[in-house]
Amino acid sequence: MASLMEDKVGIVTAAGSGIGRASALAFATEGAKVVVSDINEQLGQETVRLIKESGGEASFVFCNVAKEEQVVRLVQQTLELYGRLDWAHNNAGIGAPSKPVVETNSADWDRCLQVNTTGLYYCLKHEIAAMLESGGGAIVNTASTSGLLGSENLAAYSASKWAVNGLTKSVALEYAKKGIRVNSICPGMTLTPAVEAWKKEVPEQAAYVENDIPLGRMGKPEDQANAAVWLCSDKAAYITGVNLAVDGGQTAK
Ligand SMILES: NC(=O)c1ccc[n+]([C@@H]2O[C@H](COP(=O)([O-])OP(=O)(O)OC[C@H]3O[C@@H](n4cnc5c(N)ncnc54)[C@H](O)[C@@H]3O)[C@@H](O)[C@H]2O)c1
Repeated sequence: MASLMEDKVGIVTAAGSGIGRASALAFATEGAKVVVSDINEQLGQETVRLIKESGGEASFVFCNVAKEEQVVRLVQQTLELYGRLDWAHNNAGIGAPSKPVVETNSADWDRCLQVNTTGLYYCLKHEIAAMLESGGGAIVNTASTSGLLGSENLAAYSASKWAVNGLTKSVALEYAKKGIRVNSICPGMTLTPAVEAWKKEVPEQAAYVENDIPLGRMGKPEDQANAAVWLCSDKAAYITGVNLAVDGGQTAK
C-alpha cells in the first residue's frame, strides 16, 4: 500500500525534541523527505540519525524561527536539497514564566511573541511562496489548548497561541484557491521531556492533572505527530482553516 506522504518534501521546525521529533519521524515513516530544523544542532542531528536508521530520508538545517533571514535560508536550503516544498509542520514554540500579568516582564512577553507568533509569520510567508512554485501544499502549525481557552498566569503564551490559531485561519482563507491548506493542532499536555521530568518531580500533581483529562492520560508526542501527518496528507484534502484540539477531550468540557 502506498504511504501517506510518499516522496513529499517538507520541513519540521523545532524537530530536535518532543512533538517536533515525533513529527519528523512520523512524516519520514510515511515516506516523506524531511528537513529537520532546530536551534539545537546536536538534538536535530540525532533526529536525522533516528530517521535514517529506520530507512527514511532527512537532513538537518539550523534555524531560529525568530530570525527572518534564517527562515529564508531554511526554505532555500530545502529547495536546494530536495527541489520543492510540499508540506511544513511549524512547531517551534516557547513558554514564558508563569505569573499574573502585573508581575510579568516585557522582555519575556517580547521573546515569547517573537518566537511563537512572529516566527510563525516568517515561516508561513516564506514556505507559502515556495509552495506556490511547487504547485500547492499543506501546512500544520502547532498551537496549544492555551490558544483555545484562557490560561491563568500564561498571558504571553496564551496570546501567542491564540495568534497562531488566528494566523492559521486567515492564511488558510488567503491560499485555499491556490491549492494550499493551512491547519493547526492544539496539543493538550503532552509527554515531552520537560513534561516527563515534571511528572516525575510531582507525581501526585501529575496524577491529578491526568485524572482530569477525559481520555484519562496525557498525550504522547506521537498523538500530536499523527494528527500533523494526517492534516498534511491527502486524507485531509477537504480540511483547511481548522484548529484541531489534540487533547484527550480536555477542551470538550
Ligand atoms: N508539550 C506540551 O505539553 C505542549 C502542549 C501544548 C503545546 N505545545 C507546543 O508544542 C510545540 C513543541 O513543544 P514540545 O513540548 O514538543 O517542545 P520541547 O521542549 O520538547 O522541544 C522544543 C524544541 O524547540 C527548539 N527551539 C526552541 N526555540 C526555538 C526557535 N526559536 N527556533 C527553532 N527551534 C527552537 C528547542 O531546541 C527544542 O529542540 C511548541 O510550540 C509548544 O508550545 C506543547
